[in-house]
Amino acid sequence: AGAAAVAEAPVATISAVPDAPKEATILFGSQTGNAQRLAGRLADKLKAQGFEVTLSAMNQYKTNKLKEVGYLFILASTHGEGDPPDNALTFYEFLNSKRAPKLDGAKFSVLALGDTSYEFFCKTGADFDARLAELGAERIVDRVDCDVDFEELASGWLTAVAGAVSATSAAAAPQAAVVSAFPVAAGESEYSRSNPFMAEVLDSLNLNGRGSDRETRHLELSLEGSGLTYAPGDAVGVYAYNDPALVEEIIAALNWNADEKVVTGKAGETSTVREALAHHYEITVLTKPLLEKAVAFSGNSKLAELVKPDNKEDLKAYLNGRDLLDLLRDYAPWTLKAADVASLLRKLPPRLYSIASSVNAHPEEVHLTIRKVEYEAHGRDRKGVCSVYVSERLQPGDKLPIFIQENPNFKAPVNPETPVIMVGPGTGVAPFRAFLEEREETGAEGKSWLFYGDRHFVTDFLYQTDWQRMLKDGVLSKLDVAFSRDSDEKVYVQHRMLEQGEELYKWLDNGAHVYVCGDEKHMAHDVQSALLTIIGQYGGKSQEEAAAYLSALQEQGRYQRDVY
Ligand code: 2AM
Repeated sequence: AGAAAVAEAPVATISAVPDAPKEATILFGSQTGNAQRLAGRLADKLKAQGFEVTLSAMNQYKTNKLKEVGYLFILASTHGEGDPPDNALTFYEFLNSKRAPKLDGAKFSVLALGDTSYEFFCKTGADFDARLAELGAERIVDRVDCDVDFEELASGWLTAVAGAVSATSAAAAPQAAVVSAFPVAAGESEYSRSNPFMAEVLDSLNLNGRGSDRETRHLELSLEGSGLTYAPGDAVGVYAYNDPALVEEIIAALNWNADEKVVTGKAGETSTVREALAHHYEITVLTKPLLEKAVAFSGNSKLAELVKPDNKEDLKAYLNGRDLLDLLRDYAPWTLKAADVASLLRKLPPRLYSIASSVNAHPEEVHLTIRKVEYEAHGRDRKGVCSVYVSERLQPGDKLPIFIQENPNFKAPVNPETPVIMVGPGTGVAPFRAFLEEREETGAEGKSWLFYGDRHFVTDFLYQTDWQRMLKDGVLSKLDVAFSRDSDEKVYVQHRMLEQGEELYKWLDNGAHVYVCGDEKHMAHDVQSALLTIIGQYGGKSQEEAAAYLSALQEQGRYQRDVY
């Protein structure tokens, strides 16, 4: 608890103000916007407690202020192989370098967002947590690591932090109502992630031509009556249903009665176990926590063996590409009852898709571009939950539970004159249809350049007629395409960028924003290398200078990525 020394009151209120810090710094590292929204909620809470709050993306924060920081709260997500989000990178590197200051006077806590189906679950948050302690800061609330279904744990952390600061600065409360400018979204709708809107399917088209080895759905959904709206760059969260055939196989493997009622919600809602497995729980992904819990229900001692700490590599190999049915078959016999489902399985998480339309071009509609995911692994055919549901079972007239996920990290330039360079192979092109439709509707004058790629020109040129129209009416200034399987040699979007490196650097020099959307692991990585090459070559810069140039673009919001 804080010592109640008498200090100067910050505003005309009561005189007893503690010596504990009255300022709080909240830094977020956020890719899809969840950490950012939670940071905004913390800011509101602390402001209501009389705090002066600095709320900032990590890469926007002036690190020389760290020395004086009192309360420091970090909210950070983790991506891919334990990577920090783009807007956390420079801060993460700074803090973990020798340049980081001592933080003896600071009090901190960390909220980490992640996904237990990845090996390096919440690594970024954990790294921040360890490093802040190492630099001498005092941890006032233990770090909380959230899985995909983060709301409950995250809310608990927010409450704990608010409680901890009021305990350590007891007299901070008396302040007039603080009006917060953050983060009340415009056009607030009653529908959200926790209360999705049932959107009617207006149309569902396969964008790939006959003979293509791909199937990509263009889905048009109605937002009528929802009050929902969105900006180009935002995403839609879709709640899909699991494959009914897989559900039946799981029930058969466990010899359950499919009609047995089980509890599926906090408020005691029930449904049949068949419905629970189809609608409420994740059955296509295995996680370490799931296997650890499953040990108690398996009569096969090999499962207990597999989750032992010294078998880390075996466990990782087992988890990769397997699902609940594999687990049930591989580690039978089971004592698992239908009623255990709720404690064992994760909730079926919504899938996020970048929006492919401008609401100004299509009032009260939202369009999505969804590629069907199907592959074979460990001797069985595997199906992407949402993409296969949408492609095979969802019909026009059906309703789909959705919400809008605002994406603060993928925003079109504020100035309509700003040139944009857009790199979006495959379904990565979706948000650029939204960007360009918006420019078309609003008569924006800025130049635009799209790099698109896919396998075959004839069958896989998504939205080809839209681009042609936009080229004609001038809303799209330049289009470069790379079809990777039409020639013997692979050509990808980054090859087209390199070919036009000189021109591309000119655009950058003229203030263009660069947007990259699509596959993270390969494409976005290779595109970034191409950008660095171009900046080095045509900007006459060394490797380090080119990297610094690109980092600066990122900090200014001129290099934004929506990658998955
Ligand atoms: P490929 O499948 O022929 O290898 C959309 O999926 C397009 O992205 C496809 O043409 C695919 O080519 C291509 N692609 C695959 N790997 C890529 C990479 N590392 N960089 C850019 N494009 C890539």
